[in-house]
Amino acid sequence: ALSGTDLLEEINRLRKEKNAIILAHYYQTSDIQDIADFVGDSLELSRKAAETDAEVIVFCGVKFMADTAKILSPEKIVVLPDMDAGCSLEDSCPPDKFRAFREAHPDHIALTYINCSTEVKALSDVIVTSSSAETILSQIPEDQKIIFGPDRHLGGYLSRKFGREMLLWPGVCIVHEAFSETELLKLKEQYPGAPIAAHPECPPTIIDHADYVGSTSGILQFAKTFEGDTLIVATEPHIIHQMEKALPEKNFIGAPGADGNCSCNICPYMALNTMEKLYACLRDLEPRIEIEEGLRLKAKQSLDRMLEMAS
Ligand code: 13P
Ligand code: SF4
Repeated sequence: ALSGTDLLEEINRLRKEKNAIILAHYYQTSDIQDIADFVGDSLELSRKAAETDAEVIVFCGVKFMADTAKILSPEKIVVLPDMDAGCSLEDSCPPDKFRAFREAHPDHIALTYINCSTEVKALSDVIVTSSSAETILSQIPEDQKIIFGPDRHLGGYLSRKFGREMLLWPGVCIVHEAFSETELLKLKEQYPGAPIAAHPECPPTIIDHADYVGSTSGILQFAKTFEGDTLIVATEPHIIHQMEKALPEKNFIGAPGADGNCSCNICPYMALNTMEKLYACLRDLEPRIEIEEGLRLKAKQSLDRMLEMAS
């Protein structure tokens, strides 16, 4: 097996040879973020995947993100280092149950978080990401009834912020659900004055203490502009790598779980991707994302609507 510099050199040789672009989410380990051509949040990664003229997309993120890349760029080979890199939100929303839920509420439209399967996207009207949800929701007429799934915390946050009722699917992200309010308050006492930036997948017990709420890119932007020297970050801690690179003189602390540290908030799905698996999937062009064409076209409609409404 290759390691260290050899691995880096081989990845660099292969990406040129195969005309591949490496896309990575902020929750990937720092070695993967550093070797990627582009690191971004879900919306930015979707846009990159739709626009690139590379022949191969190596998607370092979770499966629904790689699926989205394939839906938007079907002519490209899309590989994911580990096909088991799922998402608890996607798992919480089986397509047959979601279809039944929709059918029980025929006067509602389905506004759906991108963290879901291709089948659920195909059953939805408009997809949103955490960075585009507010812009998109504000364009939907006040009297239009809405089903929001699968993340009940993002849905609840939007509902409170817009003073607008929505029917919420009961899914959660196991990572953001693991932050502890008690431990967060202890940390705040230790660092009085340190602001808290939180992802909207966090439960209200965490969001209520946040000075900023937004997507991974939004949180990163906030980290680059906040005043003070310490920031508490309530999202998956691998994003802190980008903060430390941009602002090495500042102190970034991952919000704690019940055990008092942030390691229990590492996304176990994202963590399945490693440099070795990245190298292997670039070399073999496997495992590949494949989506049946009829299903892809249906899912693409709700994603295209997101891309139009988000801009
Ligand atoms: P972002 O769109 O904010 O990057 O979020 C993706 C995600 O999976 C958060 O858990
Ligand atoms: Fe899914 Fe949560 Fe992991 Fe994001 S952090 S990929 S929502 S399980």
